[in-house]
Amino acid sequence: MSKSTVLTGITTTGTPHLGNYVGAIKPAIQASHNTDIRSCYFLADYHALIKCRDPGVVHSSTLEIAATWLALGLDTDRAIFYRQSDIPEISELTWLLTCVTAKGLMNRAHAYKAAVQDNVDAGEDPDKAIDMGLFSYPILMAADILMFNAHRVPVGRDQVQHLEMARDIAQRFNHLFGEHFVLPEAVVDDNVAVLPGQDGRKMSKSYNNTIPLWLPEKKLRKSIMKIVTNSLEPGEPKQTEGSALFAIYSAFANTEQRQAMKQAFADGIAWGAAKQQCFELINAELAEARAAYEELISEPARIEARLLEGAERARGVAVPFMQELRGAVGIRPLA
Ligand code: TRP
Repeated sequence: MSKSTVLTGITTTGTPHLGNYVGAIKPAIQASHNTDIRSCYFLADYHALIKCRDPGVVHSSTLEIAATWLALGLDTDRAIFYRQSDIPEISELTWLLTCVTAKGLMNRAHAYKAAVQDNVDAGEDPDKAIDMGLFSYPILMAADILMFNAHRVPVGRDQVQHLEMARDIAQRFNHLFGEHFVLPEAVVDDNVAVLPGQDGRKMSKSYNNTIPLWLPEKKLRKSIMKIVTNSLEPGEPKQTEGSALFAIYSAFANTEQRQAMKQAFADGIAWGAAKQQCFELINAELAEARAAYEELISEPARIEARLLEGAERARGVAVPFMQELRGAVGIRPLA
């Protein structure tokens, strides 16, 4: 029996932060050590172009994200780690899928609908500043997934609709041209808590409340010291519920450490002391990988080589599969 495939993409538009690490990177790297599955992880740089018009950001973010995954120990002998744009067959498949995707299906995409609604609310033309990349985003994502016949796709809750669309598109293609695609399923892990940022809202670039993953030690400490707390004095009991500091600490703590911090809150630990403990815990987890990251990032050629190796393996799957799909739709040699 062939192995089940798990695949996920990371859009290359930002600098990795603690929320990305806890919510996506760490669980994915742990899962990559499982020998019973084939895992594919890729840098979604074509998706990045939809959100970002700054070539410098797309480029540096690709380097930073690749270095992050490698520094944290992604096993690239086992997992296939590649850059979307190194697999031209993905663009080709996007077109085949575009031709069988109902426009009405795309009209229902949450991200597109929200953009239209914002325009309408502002009294503007509904299509203002909406390009075809945004509109067709789910088709490119379907191609990413279907190209490797992924069974399971770990994503955030906001991406579940895109997975439903990928299934719809796959079903339509299978119906028209034969059973070529596996129907993928979204995997949303409810156990990985959404990490709050410094202000207590979800840690996100759009809220400007992130703690970057690879801050040098002193800056990491400073950034943790900025987590918003309240004015309770040392000695006054503190609530863990609703505390961003406690949530961030917990995301890195084992059961005992979490329990001890809970007790310390009840006993009235000073905010400064709790933050110091939080810093020490996070720093201990990241210090070794940070050194590896810094070394990697200073040698982009090594990262490039690893990505090209991954692309070669990915194309080992994509090239013959694309050949099959072209044949299925009637694009094949005449003699
Ligand atoms: N759209 C995903 C996100 O914003 C990134 C992504 C692109 C992806 N292609 C994918 C995720 C394929 C899973 C599978 O998070």
